[in-house]
Amino acid sequence: MKFAQSAAAAIALALFTCAQAQQPIIIKFSHVVTDDTPKGKGALKFKELAEAKTKGRVKVEVYPNSQLYKDREELEALQLGAVQMLAPSVSKFGPLGVRKFEVFDLPYMFPDEKSLENVVEGPVGSGMFKLLEPKGITGLAYWFNGFKEFTANKPLKKLDDFKGLKIRIQSSKILEGEIKALGAIPQVMAFSEVYTALQQGVVDGEENTPSNKYTQKMHEVQKYMTMSDHGVVMYAVIVNKKFWDGLPPDIRKSLSEAMAESTKYVWQIARQENEDAVAKIKAAKTTEIYLLPQADKAVWRKAMLPLYTQYEDVVGKDTLQAIERSVAQSTTKK
Ligand code: LMR
Repeated sequence: MKFAQSAAAAIALALFTCAQAQQPIIIKFSHVVTDDTPKGKGALKFKELAEAKTKGRVKVEVYPNSQLYKDREELEALQLGAVQMLAPSVSKFGPLGVRKFEVFDLPYMFPDEKSLENVVEGPVGSGMFKLLEPKGITGLAYWFNGFKEFTANKPLKKLDDFKGLKIRIQSSKILEGEIKALGAIPQVMAFSEVYTALQQGVVDGEENTPSNKYTQKMHEVQKYMTMSDHGVVMYAVIVNKKFWDGLPPDIRKSLSEAMAESTKYVWQIARQENEDAVAKIKAAKTTEIYLLPQADKAVWRKAMLPLYTQYEDVVGKDTLQAIERSVAQSTTKK
């Protein structure tokens, strides 16, 4: 009888272990934008490739549009292992105590996305990811969205036009300095709250890519957009370190391949996604679009230039110089 019981228990355990082994590994990928954006499409591309390359041993659940967590909460959830993957803007690592990423917020630093891609594909990019390891986070890749433009309910053509306006920003000290340098008042706010805050006049304006503006319907509550291209929205695709290190090596290899292909895809589609968004905003006839002339861009850049020295200690003189060298090389190569 005892033998039969332990044999039954052993069979049950074996069946359970076997069933467990057949359970797919779940990756919860949470983010704050819609599916119809560079990051949204990148996350779905990663899901498709990851599930195909692992032949179903991994299942990626994508939660867009702050469905699960808002900006700040999603980083905490990743550290706790409540979700396994995120792709927050690099402007949002300050609250984690890793403010060096804010170097990418310095205005007019990158003349085009290629010069930015060269920087993040190099030692600066990998060096930044090392800063996340002690936080229990592993960086996998950088994804691009686009260049930022300003919107408000009054025309923004001259620096004076910013005086006293409340402008929504991401949680970055350098962006705070940028808005103050323009004579306006910075207001940090979660992305999912921006539309309502603009609609109710809690803030007067904001800065973001056309893709983010259009997909969050911000153009419906903003009468003017200035194409200033004064900064970038870029993402760091990150995972919970314990989860990533605990994966079977063959699975990690397939996921890394899926990530590399998704990353290439996102950088390829980003510019068109934003050009399409500008066309859709134009077609909606809700917002007057003003192209800031190069001469005025130079004036705005000059007004914000003190930020480069003001935040040198935060971002690191060496990092700043490495980026400037790389950008100069990218520019001369052209
Ligand atoms: C923002 O908060 O404006 C952006 O970072 C949102 C996003 O993820 O693109």
